[in-house]
Amino acid sequence: MTASPVLRIGQLTDLHIGFDRTSAREANLIRLEAALALLNEPGLQPDLILLTGDLTEHGDGPSFDQLAAALAGCGVPVWPIPGNHDSRAALLHAFPHVVTTDDFVHYTLDLPGLRVLMLDTLDPGRHGGAFCDRRARWLAERLGEAPDTPTLIAMHHPPFAAGIAWMDTHPDEPWVARFGAAIAGHGQIVGIVCGHVHQATTTRWRGVPALIAGSTAPAVALDLRPIDADAPDGRALIAGTAPGLALHCWDGTALISHLFTASPAPALASHDGRMTALLRAMAAERP
Ligand SMILES: [Fe+2]
Ligand SMILES: [Fe+2]
Repeated sequence: MTASPVLRIGQLTDLHIGFDRTSAREANLIRLEAALALLNEPGLQPDLILLTGDLTEHGDGPSFDQLAAALAGCGVPVWPIPGNHDSRAALLHAFPHVVTTDDFVHYTLDLPGLRVLMLDTLDPGRHGGAFCDRRARWLAERLGEAPDTPTLIAMHHPPFAAGIAWMDTHPDEPWVARFGAAIAGHGQIVGIVCGHVHQATTTRWRGVPALIAGSTAPAVALDLRPIDADAPDGRALIAGTAPGLALHCWDGTALISHLFTASPAPALASHDGRMTALLRAMAAERP
């Protein structure tokens, strides 16, 4: 029997290129390069990469140009959507292969055996997400036209609260209800992948597996206490962790998502002959 080919989808989110305007080799660019280098390892190489928003810190053209240059050599198609730090016009200028038909950067990727709907949750000037009636109508139409095609949704802002109070989406935000209504009853959705929170998180939302990938820019500190903006308590808000990334694998029946970091990981055991007996024994257990 021939195994079905597995589609590998890399996800990079919250790159925040241009955070340090004083350096052409800023830390966030170096962090992105580390994530790309890891994705290029033989056991990982994706077929395409999704960029799920906050691609830049200030949404300016030079930062987007710097990002596009950093991605130019990655060798696979790169598909971006905007986050709250981005500008639609600058994004579309830097990624001219992204074709949009209206005022939003939302579009469809028809991949082998899987459809990806790239959504736009940007509301310029606002930190949190947005999903207006027009975007909800667009999503409902896309879902309605291919009800039998497994579909992955990518969006910057998660529709759920991750538990990090100062970053969270509130479940009563009107846009969350609009998004929820648009996906209701569409059983072909196999997952929702997001960014924005800078902390790898998984849940199930309205019956659909949903996750936030870790950011390539520094993480939001994992602290689940309530927070009072007017009562500084010295807690860490941003943490200097290794760049985060995700690799989603679609085998035709299930989406398997790996959430990991580009941190130094020296091999402590290798396939150099000393593990052969163990590998053989484990392989022999399988049907
Ligand atoms: Fe971000
Ligand atoms: Fe964001």
